[in-house]
Amino acid sequence: MGETTLHGERGAFEAEAGRSWTLPSRYYTDPAILEREIAGIFRRSWICVGHLCDLRESGSYLTETLAGQPLLVIRGQDGELRAFFNVCQHRGHELLKGNGRIKGGITCPYHAWSYGHDGSLLAARLTEDVEGFDKRDFPLRPLPLAVSAGLVFVNLDSDAEPFETGYGGLDETILWHLDAMPEYQRLASHRYDIAANWKVVVDNFSEGYHIPVAHPRLATLYNTDDSNARHGPLFSAFRSKGSPAYKAMQLGPDEPYLGWTLWPNLCMLSLPGSKNLVVLRMDPAGAQRCAERVDIYAPAGAPSANLQEVHHLFADIFNQEDIGLVESVQRGLASMAYDQGRYVVDRADSWFSESGLHAFHRRILKAIA
Ligand code: FES
Ligand SMILES: [Fe+2]
Repeated sequence: MGETTLHGERGAFEAEAGRSWTLPSRYYTDPAILEREIAGIFRRSWICVGHLCDLRESGSYLTETLAGQPLLVIRGQDGELRAFFNVCQHRGHELLKGNGRIKGGITCPYHAWSYGHDGSLLAARLTEDVEGFDKRDFPLRPLPLAVSAGLVFVNLDSDAEPFETGYGGLDETILWHLDAMPEYQRLASHRYDIAANWKVVVDNFSEGYHIPVAHPRLATLYNTDDSNARHGPLFSAFRSKGSPAYKAMQLGPDEPYLGWTLWPNLCMLSLPGSKNLVVLRMDPAGAQRCAERVDIYAPAGAPSANLQEVHHLFADIFNQEDIGLVESVQRGLASMAYDQGRYVVDRADSWFSESGLHAFHRRILKAIA
């Protein structure tokens, strides 16, 4: 992959995790690196923008800004979901705001050009005398869209590889335990402004090495004796079991404890004791800041005591612990005292190995080469 040419102050980044030094700290602080990541990663990868719960009826839509690009997803009268840049083709005003449902066409708030849910321009006021004007020349710009286990993904690259190429089989790993995930509702949303590079936050989620040390309460909830991993080209899925040592929850036998990492910036978790999917997306907000958005999905209806405990454990305890960790790491990366460390990996590729962290960094380097 050519990445062995990368050297930091202490050594080379190698293709083999057990020999490699970590990414030099400038990869977490330098705005020029972030620019390469925006172009090479965020404008070319499949990014999760939400869940079908916001897009059930015709005319329902959501809007997003990904890597600076405004976009919308809308369900048409024909039942199809489509994604477009949220940009009017007259003079560029944004079309829709927030989430919601529209009855008629997509009408621009600036001069009221109006588009169908399929993106075609339906009406453009006072254009009769404009020479050679043809409404067919001004459709909305479409974007590739994919749905997996109810999660909606969009790619800013119109020539992107099909979603299935990198993420085929992802839906099975989710539906295996959360078979009704496409029908779930959003239990909670949280937004965090974190003083750390987006990769520091993904890095932290990519390894279990820190969990027994930094998350004493969470650490009582899993049993790693019986864990395994499945790796797709652009995702990994981890499966372990809940442990009855976690006293605040009633756990049946063999309750699964599940985790996923999806290239480039999505991490997911399903904790034992209830049906739940915690979805975290990390968006860069400058080289040393990150916007973390968290949505927790669960079956409709009043949450069980276990599900409330999952929400509390995530939002009030271990995500707060993680934010403390990553902000501290960012200060260390930005200091003069540190440039590189080593990946702590084991031959068994265990739950505690940092091999997934190394694989993530290899992919980063390849994407921005
Ligand atoms: S910019 Fe949209 S109608 Fe003019
Ligand atoms: Fe953590």
